[in-house]
Amino acid sequence: MNKSSHSGRRQLVVGNWKLNGNRHENAILVRGILAGWQDNLNVDVVLCPSDVYLQQTAELLSARSIFLGAQNVSEFWQGAFTGEVSAQMLADLNCRFVIIGHNERRRLLKETDEQIVQKFIAAQRANLTPILCVGESLQHREQGLQLQVIKSQLDAVFSQTGKECLVNAVLAYEPVWAVGTGVTASPEQASEVHCFIREQLGANADKIRILYGGSVKAHNAAELFAKPDIDGALLGGASLNPEEFVSICKTASLIWQH
Ligand code: PGA
Repeated sequence: MNKSSHSGRRQLVVGNWKLNGNRHENAILVRGILAGWQDNLNVDVVLCPSDVYLQQTAELLSARSIFLGAQNVSEFWQGAFTGEVSAQMLADLNCRFVIIGHNERRRLLKETDEQIVQKFIAAQRANLTPILCVGESLQHREQGLQLQVIKSQLDAVFSQTGKECLVNAVLAYEPVWAVGTGVTASPEQASEVHCFIREQLGANADKIRILYGGSVKAHNAAELFAKPDIDGALLGGASLNPEEFVSICKTASLIWQH
């Protein structure tokens, strides 16, 4: 199975380490990933450690073909905003990507659509590629409102930025009920939403990568990646296990052939 016939979009696998690890454990994790890594893998890979370990991770990765990403960014550019980390600071540390609007930040940290838009704009201003997360709650899914919820999350950004800016962005569909729960959306459920998202993306829709996130593991990655509109994965738990993480990257690489 490969995707050459329908997509010029190279698969992308992003590891979101969240609030886990310490210096020592991160070093073990990165070394574990590099031990299984092959530079000829046909996949883009991003690691998103805590900001305080970005420098360490960059040094350990050295020149390997794995990108660095952040889990969050300030909506402010600079100034008196104690405790914030700006997009230009992340770019200065060689970050190339930043996750924006993750459901844990929307729900637990009460991030608003307005903040998410400002973060998206700040990221692009610093030449970071935003990975914009959208996804419905279990309650919304049970009410059949998933597409409506996703449309409103997307519109909140598009209405201020226009759709042209998406050429330098990645989208991630992460149903809240699937993140960290061990319950994965079926390939059909994910695919339905990915197709819907793509329909919303305007003229450049075919060029934009849409990742799936929510309990993706080595055993279910292949069936998700096989769907034409699923361009890779945003991984939480599976990214903390180096063997599993590399195995998922290899699955993505095998599926996307020239
Ligand atoms: P999970 O997390 O893979 O542990 O479900 C995904 C995410 O939070 O992006």
